[in-house]
Amino acid sequence: MTFDESSIDHILSTTRAVRLRLDLEREVEKQIIVDCIDLAEQAPTGGNLGSRRWIVVTDPTIKKQLAELYYAAGGNWMIRMRDELQGTGHPNEQMMKSAAFLAENLQSVPMIVIPTIIGEHDGSGRPGLFDSVIQSAWSFCLALRARGLGTAWTTAVFEKRDELKSLLGIPPEVTEIVMLPVAWTKGTEFSPARRHPARDITFFDKYSKTFESGPSSPISFSDGPGTIVEIDIDASVKKVWSLVADINFPASFSEEFVGAEWENERLEPSVGALFIGRNNNEHFGDWSVNCFVDSYEKFKTFGWCTGNFRHPGARWKFELEAFGGGTRVRFRVLLGPGPSGLTRLVEANPENESVIIDSRLDALNRNMMNVLVGMKAALD
Ligand SMILES: Cc1cc2nc3c(=O)[nH]c(=O)nc-3n(C[C@H](O)[C@H](O)[C@H](O)COP(=O)(O)O)c2cc1C
Repeated sequence: MTFDESSIDHILSTTRAVRLRLDLEREVEKQIIVDCIDLAEQAPTGGNLGSRRWIVVTDPTIKKQLAELYYAAGGNWMIRMRDELQGTGHPNEQMMKSAAFLAENLQSVPMIVIPTIIGEHDGSGRPGLFDSVIQSAWSFCLALRARGLGTAWTTAVFEKRDELKSLLGIPPEVTEIVMLPVAWTKGTEFSPARRHPARDITFFDKYSKTFESGPSSPISFSDGPGTIVEIDIDASVKKVWSLVADINFPASFSEEFVGAEWENERLEPSVGALFIGRNNNEHFGDWSVNCFVDSYEKFKTFGWCTGNFRHPGARWKFELEAFGGGTRVRFRVLLGPGPSGLTRLVEANPENESVIIDSRLDALNRNMMNVLVGMKAALD
């Protein structure tokens, strides 16, 4: 059997949280939901136990009570946030508009599906609970999308779990996993969301190690090796940025980077700005490197390349993301494609290419993590 890969990939990349585009007027046949549940039941389950149970709410009175619970559990907050964020351009403005719409209209959604599983999530680590139902619930969402229906993964109602159990008669030993409001969608075109590219978050063989291609076996310089470190800091993006944008801050924590000077100290840095970085380590001694800024978005990213403008020896980048009440900082480096001390070492010892790259990545990773830990200590 051959598969239509592009349709399957399209469904996998465009199954969005649908709220504003749920068609509240069009009836949904119950059989279509049952068919989707049959498909979802093909998902793996710990111990091969069939412990999933599905509740499909269609009764208008129960839906109304469920909508009231949802409102009390978090819907009222979503509506407030929508009103606060309206017109501000905040990154969550559109999401809150959509979430608030659902909170205001849940009772009018044709069906509300709640997958549950027999068992209590007690942290025992045994299979058969969340890890046996999440994949099934997501298969259900994909099956809906394939048929022109949509839903949104919601959990806010579980703030009122006792009331929910009593409303739907769910036994205490059964765990509710997600509440899925289901309707036909208005139109079927949805777009992929912005997510991290897989190459940025996929580590080969060891946590933090990235490759722009391959990697070959054994790894080679032409694979575009790199490393990423991350830390969550309990401080605002603005405060973290003040340290990220200070090119001399890492010198206090890195065992290699000594300091840096802007070519033109008086100008606010921007893409194209130049600075010189000074380094020292036991293998290469002292060396300086020309650096040019290749990405600079205040409070978001600061990236620079070393060496030749068109053919850099390495590409470095800080990225900031608001996270909870604080900031997640990612610090990454990609080696090459141009020449550097590393490529000279590899040329002199070609038989050790993979070992040299590996140990260089380890050393860089250590230094970069020291910088982030130092940043956290300075701000937390
Ligand atoms: C664990 C989890 C809980 C969520 N809870 C809610 C919720 O209670 N209400 C809601 O409107 N959306 C909820 N969402 C949906 C997210 O807000 C949604 O995924 C986000 O808006 C991004 O949209 P996208 O999935 O289309 O990219 C939840 C998503 C997840 C993964």
